[in-house]
Amino acid sequence: MEAIQNGAVDYLSKPFAPEELLHAVDRCRKQFDLEEENKTLRASTSSSPVYRLDQIVGESSKMDDLRQFIETVAPTDSTVLILGESGTGKELVAGAIHYLSSRKDQNYIRLNCAAIPENLLESELFGHEKGAFTGALRTKAGRVEEADGGTIFLDEIGDMSRPLQAKLLRFLEDGSFTRVGGNEEKRVNVRIIAATNRDIVEAIKENEFREDLYHRLNVMQFRPPPLRDREGDVIMLAEYFLSQNCKNLGRTVLHLSQDAQSKLLSHQWPGNVRELRNVMERASIIEQTDEVQPESLPDFELEARLRASKEGGVSEVGGEIDFELGFSGSVAEFERKIIQTALDQNQYNINCSAEQLKMTRHSLRYRMQQLGLANNTRGGGDSNNE
Ligand SMILES: Nc1ncnc2c1ncn2[C@@H]1O[C@H](COP(=O)(O)OP(=O)(O)OP(=O)(O)O)[C@@H](O)[C@H]1O
Ligand SMILES: [Mg+2]
Repeated sequence: MEAIQNGAVDYLSKPFAPEELLHAVDRCRKQFDLEEENKTLRASTSSSPVYRLDQIVGESSKMDDLRQFIETVAPTDSTVLILGESGTGKELVAGAIHYLSSRKDQNYIRLNCAAIPENLLESELFGHEKGAFTGALRTKAGRVEEADGGTIFLDEIGDMSRPLQAKLLRFLEDGSFTRVGGNEEKRVNVRIIAATNRDIVEAIKENEFREDLYHRLNVMQFRPPPLRDREGDVIMLAEYFLSQNCKNLGRTVLHLSQDAQSKLLSHQWPGNVRELRNVMERASIIEQTDEVQPESLPDFELEARLRASKEGGVSEVGGEIDFELGFSGSVAEFERKIIQTALDQNQYNINCSAEQLKMTRHSLRYRMQQLGLANNTRGGGDSNNE
């Protein structure tokens, strides 16, 4: 009775046949298996959402290629490195790879290397022994142990300290590691996916990232492209987020007006899909009419100007400032000079000018229309032979 009260799963009363003992052990095993399965299930449903390939929206050929590559690489055990600007969907790619792999029923552990203080990251990753440092009151298993049999996603790997990079390198070689303050070598079977939005080549040059670690991680490389390079995806994604948000808000699904579409297409999206998602969330809340109007979108020009002044180069074409024109007037005048200079240098060829200005043909055309420069391009109008 006392043993049961203290948590024993079962008991046998003497005398018993050997088969009874076997049965009892078998029942224990089954219960243990169930509990373990439950833990894994809980980990995958509560803490991390399930990722699917169809959550990666976009019909541009670049996105088709990306999805295709995910499907090819996912079933292998290869280490994956995902590089790309902020907000391009690196987390979605990582998640899709895990959930399309044979490890999908095992744990998917996500660890953001930039979100954990440097001195705690090692113990978070590899665990620690009791008393390893002040505050280490009891032994704690590392996230890599939790990920055993499954996948670990090391996000913002570019921000990991050099000493820890060395330990990670060893772990990548054969899955072996030692807990902080421990001396027993442990080993697990974990697939590694790493991501960063840092310019990794620059980080290597600056001696902040180990080149050997880069090569070890870089077995399969993914580069979700920036939104401005995805011909056609902006509107599709905008409509997708709009419909999601409207459904969440319980309002009739809004669509984009023509003018709103033009405005979205003229923007460069430095914050990529995340920025677009936020813009559409805002629009779905503040729009009063039954189509999204440009007024419900942010003032992208203001933001672009902020960036331009941060990046410098303002004074090069600017020349004298005519304060008579006021702030917006001066900015428009400045823009006109930049665009005019590019057009002049490229004999009014839109494609070449856009390339020189590092903007899309569409954005250039839009700006020109706003500035009244649109009627004197070569080939005129909107014909395709400009
Ligand atoms: N192709 C896409 N289809 C649908 N949603 C997307 C797509 N790409 C990104 N998103 C959404 O945009 C947001 C940002 O994506 P994510 O967090 O994956 O970016 P990230 O590349 O990890 O950025 P960071 O480097 O800043 O961490 C998320 O809400 C994600 O769901
Ligand atoms: Mg991310």
